[in-house]
Amino acid sequence: NLPEKGKVTWKAPSNIALVKYWGKRPVQIPTNPSISFTLDACATTTSVTFEKKDSKDDFSFDLFFEGKPKEGFKPKIRTFLERIEMYLPFLKEYHFTIETSNSFPHSSGIASSASGMAALSLCLMGIERQLNPTMEEKVFNAKASFLARLGSGSACRSIKGNLVQWGEHANIPESSDLYGIVYPFGVNPVFKSYCDTILLVHKGQKQVSSTVGHQLMHGHPYAENRFKQAFSNLEKLRPILESGDLEEFIKLVESEALTLHAMMMTSMPYFMLMKPDTLEIINKIWQYREETKTPVCFTLDAGANVHLLYPASEKEKVQDFIKDKLAIHCENGHYINDRVGQGATKI
Ligand code: PMV
Repeated sequence: NLPEKGKVTWKAPSNIALVKYWGKRPVQIPTNPSISFTLDACATTTSVTFEKKDSKDDFSFDLFFEGKPKEGFKPKIRTFLERIEMYLPFLKEYHFTIETSNSFPHSSGIASSASGMAALSLCLMGIERQLNPTMEEKVFNAKASFLARLGSGSACRSIKGNLVQWGEHANIPESSDLYGIVYPFGVNPVFKSYCDTILLVHKGQKQVSSTVGHQLMHGHPYAENRFKQAFSNLEKLRPILESGDLEEFIKLVESEALTLHAMMMTSMPYFMLMKPDTLEIINKIWQYREETKTPVCFTLDAGANVHLLYPASEKEKVQDFIKDKLAIHCENGHYINDRVGQGATKI
């Protein structure tokens, strides 16, 4: 009773981790738990058109990125399909046309793997749901997150909003290494409208992929303590998120960002993804916070760009600060104003 053909479209957001995932075991099992804000504006929209084919010997798909055929992305998608086939047995029954586009500019240095893998997983789950229409929403979301994780680890945190936790933790009920869950504890309203301005310091290709970075945590001299710290930071975050204690929030989030980069600088081989402008921005944030007592802070991904985090109530002031002091450190003065979002939507 497989449908002959059809089309599914989903829009999935990017996310930014507060406690970072860095280090994994096969197959995409995180060595420590993490938590992220789901974003809103930075998103990938993907359509999957499917049509039954005669031969079921192999996968068959075409791929279009922003309207143009994209052969370069095909091997990654094929690997993904191979990995998830055992969970979606219909994949070889169809020819797929996958059309995908990002809301953020191409080569902006913003990783699209999280939003991209989440959107594609949701589309494939959309087909699965046609075979199993009574599937519960919770099961649908958990399986979409499970599949997205197999495409790119952090993608499993891009299905729902506003705060998503991934990775088993003894004190977080229902937490799992296999998929992300909506953060199950109280969250102060301040965090539900938090702003994230992404300062695009360097739009080029990263010098080291996150895949390689994760691998370098094996045998890393500080790995054990780092993993312990992540478990403990998740624990510490609980009362902070509940009360809205921004002072403690800032300390924890900035320390996580710098620890992530410290792990890169102390692995073998070592590498550094921050640029001089990344450091200029960090210093200006610290100075501004000291002088104005505005609760702004930064976090970093595995790259040179800086995510500036602040409450929505400070938006006007912080926008002036960005224009006056930070924009000059961005490539072509380019930055993206984003905020915490609600998760993926079906189009
Ligand atoms: O999802 P991956 O394998 O690209 O790893 C991303 C890891 C960080 O973005 C650096 C941290 C995180 O938790 O998102």
